[in-house]
Amino acid sequence: MSTTQVRGMSVGEAIRQRRSIRAFQEVAPPLSVIEGILADAARAASGSNLQPWIIHVVLGEARSRLIEAIDRAVERSPGGESEQYSIFPVDLREPYFSRRGATAAGVYGMLGVKREDHEARMLWRGNNFRFFGAPIGLFCFVDSAFGPGQWSDLGMYLQNVMLLAKEAGLDTCAQEAWSLYNQTVSTQLGVAPSMTLFCGMAIGYADHNQAVNEFVAPRANLAEFCTIHSA
Ligand SMILES: Cc1cc2nc3c(=O)[nH]c(=O)nc-3n(C[C@H](O)[C@H](O)[C@H](O)COP(=O)(O)O)c2cc1C
Repeated sequence: MSTTQVRGMSVGEAIRQRRSIRAFQEVAPPLSVIEGILADAARAASGSNLQPWIIHVVLGEARSRLIEAIDRAVERSPGGESEQYSIFPVDLREPYFSRRGATAAGVYGMLGVKREDHEARMLWRGNNFRFFGAPIGLFCFVDSAFGPGQWSDLGMYLQNVMLLAKEAGLDTCAQEAWSLYNQTVSTQLGVAPSMTLFCGMAIGYADHNQAVNEFVAPRANLAEFCTIHSA
């Protein structure tokens, strides 16, 4: 079990080493470290400095209560509660459709779960709602009046959280899956209905004995998404 703090990591190293971790050790990082990360992450740029991110952190009893409430909600509504936003467009086009498929295939491949094994996939999906075993989870909310500009600011904040976590020897997994149960999460945390739940995030020490954590999601080459105009 390693709880080493990796200090002095460059931004580049943190970016290159970060990846989504989907199995965590039980040991909890000190809350003060998490608070430091969340405070520093707020140095993220945001349009007109609105800082539209609203963060709720759960651990201990609060985390257990939330997980129990979600278990009941999943039993009631296996497909999720009423949507606050659509995670993907219904007609996800190429190359995005294939990329999503490859990610699912990569994760399930590591777990030895076959594509057609719906039951095993649903069982695994349930791990999302336990923060993949991470002892600390956060939720990122945004005022429902806000649009794409402010939502992109959330991404900048959350990326900072993930990189700062990496620097502190921690790992993370952002989780849009929680948005499927936005009503239960908001009720449990006392968040007003005027707020939209963007995503959750698992934070903790990676369990490197779990095969699922070996998956490294590929990236498109620069030329596929970047056009340079120079003449
Ligand atoms: C906003 C956001 C939401 C995500 N939601 C989930 C999720 O619900 N469950 C999950 O297992 N991974 C989730 N991911 C992780 C992505 O699948 C992952 O970032 C992507 O496959 C690239 O892999 P990497 O993070 O390991 O580089 C999410 C990532 C982001 C940025």
